[in-house]
Amino acid sequence: MKKVVKIIGITIGAVVLALTAAALYFNFKGMPYYEVNAPDITVEPTPERIARGEYIVNQTCAICHLGKDGKFSGTLMEDDPAFGAWYAANITQHPEAGIGKYTDGELMYLLRTGIKRTGQFAAPFMPRFNHLSDEDVKSIIAYLHSDASRVQPVDVRQPAQQPTLLAKVVCNLGMKPLPYPDVTVTAPPKTDEVAYGKYLVTQAMMCYMCHSASFETNDELTPENSEGYLAGGTMVRNPQDRSVITPSANLTMHPELGLGQWTEEQFANAVRFGQTADGQGLTSAMPKFTLMTDEDISAIWAYLQTVPAVEKNVLADAGQ
Ligand code: HEC
Ligand code: HEC
Repeated sequence: MKKVVKIIGITIGAVVLALTAAALYFNFKGMPYYEVNAPDITVEPTPERIARGEYIVNQTCAICHLGKDGKFSGTLMEDDPAFGAWYAANITQHPEAGIGKYTDGELMYLLRTGIKRTGQFAAPFMPRFNHLSDEDVKSIIAYLHSDASRVQPVDVRQPAQQPTLLAKVVCNLGMKPLPYPDVTVTAPPKTDEVAYGKYLVTQAMMCYMCHSASFETNDELTPENSEGYLAGGTMVRNPQDRSVITPSANLTMHPELGLGQWTEEQFANAVRFGQTADGQGLTSAMPKFTLMTDEDISAIWAYLQTVPAVEKNVLADAGQ
């Protein structure tokens, strides 16, 4: 009997010791580093690319990177007990405070894989744009390197990330960089409305990122495999008042719980201006895609008609 107790005691002691050692290791190691295999490219900054980049960056990247000064100087993104405090980077051209030192190829590599030019893993809050077309990624780069006023150097230094031990463990063991695509990535033609709408929802405008079950269960390589894809429920903080947190809406065509009874015009007003049919308006947890063209609204609307309706009441589930 005594022997058994002793063995159990030693085993528990060994486990505690191993866990403590692992915790110390990850706490000390911090965010992991990877090899940077940036492609050797120079993006030609054509006016078409800069305009296209402006359209994407000022809608999609702006969700996180737009500072209070109206420039892309970054801001606090997340501050929670589980993952710690995370700041969206200053992505203006400032060489130290911003991304002035990034080459075209390094930006391409980061946006695809999540690996920064220093080799450090940018995670878990910086999305990877793995299936965004080469042309769209080049357009983003052309805009970031252009003379547009919002990307001119701003000396606003975002504080260092403060990941918790849990975030460090997840980023070392759970999350990995995505593979750099070894083929040319193209967007579907705009004439194929449904396919193009899906491309906007899952890549260029990233609607699925907030409108599925939770950030943690999103599948970045195959977005449509994300848990509760487009049926809403992710809890999103209001960027103006971070104490307010709202579940994202069910965007499937369920007649009561989703958008089944909405018209395309109502949809457009919600997406562009946060307006709703009942006049109440959406909270600013839902970004305003004010630049969205009629063509893109129609494509997204056409695609949403093809997504299976899901019976999910996001407000009831969130207890709101
Ligand atoms: C959901 C929020 C979010 C969105 C959307 C987003 N980012 Fe980020 N981004 C972040 C966060 C947070 C970081 C900091 C990550 C870190 O330091 O580990 C970051 C880091 C970066 C960096 C690295 C900066 C550095 O100092 O090395 C670049 C470049 C960048 N983002 C560009 C973009 C571009 C371009 C887009 C749009 C195509 C975009 N991001 C969309 C949150 C976001
Ligand atoms: C940063 C996270 C985020 C992103 C990205 C996002 N949304 Fe939302 N969206 C929300 C949240 C949160 C709500 C609920 C707001 C509220 O209830 O006040 C919402 C609400 C909506 C609504 C209102 C639906 C209803 O039933 O009231 C529509 C429509 C919508 N989003 C469409 C979109 C589309 C289309 C995209 C991509 C172009 C998109 N959203 C991208 C967070 C997001």
